[in-house]
Amino acid sequence: MKALAALAVLLAAPAVASDNSASERNAVVLSPAQTRFILRCGGCHGTLGASPPLSVPQLRGLAGWFLCTPEAREYVIRLPNVSRAQLSDADLAEVMNFVTFELGGASTPAAAVRFTAAEVAAIRTRPLNVLPLNAYRRQIVAGVIRRCGAPASLRDYGKANALSIAAR
Ligand code: HEC
Repeated sequence: MKALAALAVLLAAPAVASDNSASERNAVVLSPAQTRFILRCGGCHGTLGASPPLSVPQLRGLAGWFLCTPEAREYVIRLPNVSRAQLSDADLAEVMNFVTFELGGASTPAAAVRFTAAEVAAIRTRPLNVLPLNAYRRQIVAGVIRRCGAPASLRDYGKANALSIAAR
């Protein structure tokens, strides 16, 4: 009875203004690739590609370095969370272009070439299944630091794992 009375009050309340046009005008417009990145990747990497770098590699300002050697370019597509993402080849290529060219910012080499659906399709058939993955990443990162002058901060993510393994 009490609930019914409350409902009656609610129904009788004057209509609240429902004009959202101002907030809609000011809303941030995301590209499809950005939206897919937030949905599929942002939970771990942060919606802006900024994550606690010891726990998850930081993509913002760094991801572009992986376009500088052929091995690193393949590595980022072969990562299990990337190659097995529930995205079509074309959508994954666009997400990876967003990650490397936009989030990557100044880290992206001037001569870098964008990913195509065909390239992604070919590489994702070979997901990385090397264990420990972190040791493989260390080799890739050493290559881009040595050959391309990438910053040593790319090694930050591996440090956390090395510490936790040493502590076991
Ligand atoms: C479950 C958490 C998780 C999800 C989801 C995830 N990643 Fe990652 N990502 C990681 C971790 C952890 C690494 C480091 C390599 C490893 O150990 O897998 C990584 C590495 C990377 C790297 C290489 C950076 C480096 O420094 O090694 C790129 C690029 C990347 N992820 C992009 C993506 C994209 C794009 C998506 C979405 C399609 C995605 N990731 C989804 C956790 C995640």
